[in-house]
Amino acid sequence: MKLSKRTEWDTEESDLARAHRERLAAGLPVYDLTASNPTRCGFEYPADLLSPLADVAAFDYDPDPRGSLRAREAVCRYYLQRGASIEPDQVILTTSTSEAYSYLFKLLCDPDDTVLVPQPSYPLFDFLAVAEAIMLAPVPLVYDHGWQLDLEGLRRQIRSSTSVTRAVVLVHPNNPTGHFTKLDEARELASICREHGLALIVDEVFLDYGLEIAGQSEAEDTATFAARDLEIPVFIVSGISKICGLPQMKAAWLVAVGPGSRAALKRLEVLADTYLSMNAPVQSALPLWLDSRGGIQEQIRLRVRRNLAALDQILGEQGSKTNAGKAEGGVLVNHLQIEGGWYAVLRIPAIQRDEQTVRELLDLGVWVHPGYFFGMGESGWLVVSLLGAAAEFSVGISLMINYLQRNQVGYR
Ligand SMILES: Cc1ncc(COP(=O)(O)O)c(C=O)c1O
Repeated sequence: MKLSKRTEWDTEESDLARAHRERLAAGLPVYDLTASNPTRCGFEYPADLLSPLADVAAFDYDPDPRGSLRAREAVCRYYLQRGASIEPDQVILTTSTSEAYSYLFKLLCDPDDTVLVPQPSYPLFDFLAVAEAIMLAPVPLVYDHGWQLDLEGLRRQIRSSTSVTRAVVLVHPNNPTGHFTKLDEARELASICREHGLALIVDEVFLDYGLEIAGQSEAEDTATFAARDLEIPVFIVSGISKICGLPQMKAAWLVAVGPGSRAALKRLEVLADTYLSMNAPVQSALPLWLDSRGGIQEQIRLRVRRNLAALDQILGEQGSKTNAGKAEGGVLVNHLQIEGGWYAVLRIPAIQRDEQTVRELLDLGVWVHPGYFFGMGESGWLVVSLLGAAAEFSVGISLMINYLQRNQVGYR
């Protein structure tokens, strides 16, 4: 049997993953600063969460390739509460945002066409692109008092691409940088898309987790793209893995707005009909889960705010204190500005490869993501999840800062 060249992945377990697995198997403590699965972070879910799955209506199989009307109406209600008026005809349900991306890449691209994706961002894009036989190029992001799109870099990328560019992906707010694409930036990006005939794909899975830090972001800057009239084709992807803290239920969607969306939806319906991947019980439960998302969202927002406050406090205590109580020795670690989502990007001294730092931290019982995992440089960046249990988070961060301080002294 010959297997395809494009799936010739290196499937060997990485040294880091092996070391992590072995440490857990040995029963040694691990303070997990990567915890991002809400079902494992000690939140309280309603005891009757699974009850709607037993609805006998799901015995009858009458598939609509776009997903059941009731479920799509619930998605429309969600957008209406966020200031966007969407019709059920503009919604296609999928089992995951990955599946939504795969439909969109099939819809918009022929093999070897290019899609621009933000960098740094979500690490799954590479695999999705390979699976769909398309090429990726970065939408560069720059950090200057907050993250911004490098629109000139984006233009250069489109001009220099060796294949035809079809679409731009944004993650709003982005993972792991936690920044929203502001309305002005979105408008400038839209004019580039219009000029080059590109569609915009916007991943809004973290939309409901804006931090609402005073003076930092205007409501129009954190609004859904479904409410921004950009006059270009926009496909929004989202789902209940983050919105309802239910990654195990496998329910997501895409919403098409703007010029050309009617024709696109007809083709998307054919794609969805080819797989018919949504199951009936989850679709019948979706309205209830979506309508009652407030309880879990409140817990998640509180956890993220508290962990961020703990992070700020621990980072503020860096350096030894003089007798007069003043901090001496510089600040080694800081976190970049965060507007939303549940990650923090940490700037650390770039004195060795982050892979080594992460390995050494693991030996001390702290498990953290290196920034390169999200497309950042190989030295100087760590990413921590703000979702983990508060006590575990604080201990993990303190151990990490102590290690980084000792390591820096050793380096000097
Ligand atoms: C930006 C982004 N989009 C999508 C997902 C996954 O969504 P789903 O579970 O619906 O595939 C994640 C998961 O971490 C994510 O970070």
